[in-house]
Amino acid sequence: MRIIGTGVSIPELKVTNDMIAEFLDTNDEWISTRTGIKERKLISTKNLFHLAADAASKALESAGKKATDMDLIICSNVANSYITPSLSSIVQGIIKATCPCFDINNACTGFLTGLDIADAYISSGKYKNILLICAEEPSRFCDWGDRNACILFGDAAGAVVLTEGEGLKKIITTTASMPDVLYYRRKLEPSPFVKKDENYKALQMVGKEVFKTAVTSSTRDIKRVISECGMVPSDVDLFVLHQANLRIIDSIRQHLDLPEEKFPHNLDKYGNTSSATIPILLDEQLKAGKIKNGDILCFSAFGAGFSTGACIMKWNA
Ligand code: COA
Repeated sequence: MRIIGTGVSIPELKVTNDMIAEFLDTNDEWISTRTGIKERKLISTKNLFHLAADAASKALESAGKKATDMDLIICSNVANSYITPSLSSIVQGIIKATCPCFDINNACTGFLTGLDIADAYISSGKYKNILLICAEEPSRFCDWGDRNACILFGDAAGAVVLTEGEGLKKIITTTASMPDVLYYRRKLEPSPFVKKDENYKALQMVGKEVFKTAVTSSTRDIKRVISECGMVPSDVDLFVLHQANLRIIDSIRQHLDLPEEKFPHNLDKYGNTSSATIPILLDEQLKAGKIKNGDILCFSAFGAGFSTGACIMKWNA
């Protein structure tokens, strides 16, 4: 499998750290130094499916493909206003595709999970062209009174077009059940038969625990995919990592003992856009001419679950 097109859609509203400090006991200095985030872009007037369809159309255009060329659409999303139908089925109608669609939810690891699923379909010969969209609006499931979590997130969509090829060398995903460190319990409709405490909660996070688990699991996954490819860390040209906290990225980098130039980041502008961070950063690096044919890329992500994923891809779009 290989990636032949990328696309991004960012919402219009820029929310700086100072804007959050107007209603929350926080400040730009704390957020910038502890996370690396300066601002995030949030959904205000649009719907998430607008962003998802926009990112998808741009990815198709960059791949030189039509929506009707796609054999499958996978959309990674944690939560949006539709529980059903799937976000992917709404996008299918907007972009005028005709293929089957489904959504996945593996939190911030969703891009890696989507790649893994797409690879299985493409390798089996069942499908040839797959559109993978990551569309997220974490601003709508954070508690905007919780300074520990809401400052971290931004909304956005990123998409890639995948097809047969020799790009993907190795992909791994893992899960270690830790439902209490990072979760969002959505309110369901009342039922006359329910006799239990529903305990609805906006996003809850044990920040320090997530931080430690993120660094150890991502470092472990990255070392594992690299060694399973018969490589050493310095063979990788660019690490396109999940953008959650600049200190997490830097700790992973230090464990691998590699230079900063190999770890691009953009969370100063967007914050953590959940599963959309990697396709957005990939698109940005491609447009900036930082990736050339033959380069070895490593993607790695982690998120609620606790879920993780990593892969090695030789760039030959
Ligand atoms: N502004 C100002 N102060 C804040 C704050 C904010 N936004 N958030 C927390 N604080 C305070 C805390 O109350 C605490 O105060 P205290 O010492 O008086 O008790 C102090 O800052 C230190 O808090 P702590 O939680 O120890 O900070 P930290 O260095 O661990 O950073 C996170 C907090 C959330 C930024 C960090 O733990 C993190 O990024 N974790 C990973 C989260 C993540 O990536 N989640 C998504 C995974 S996909």
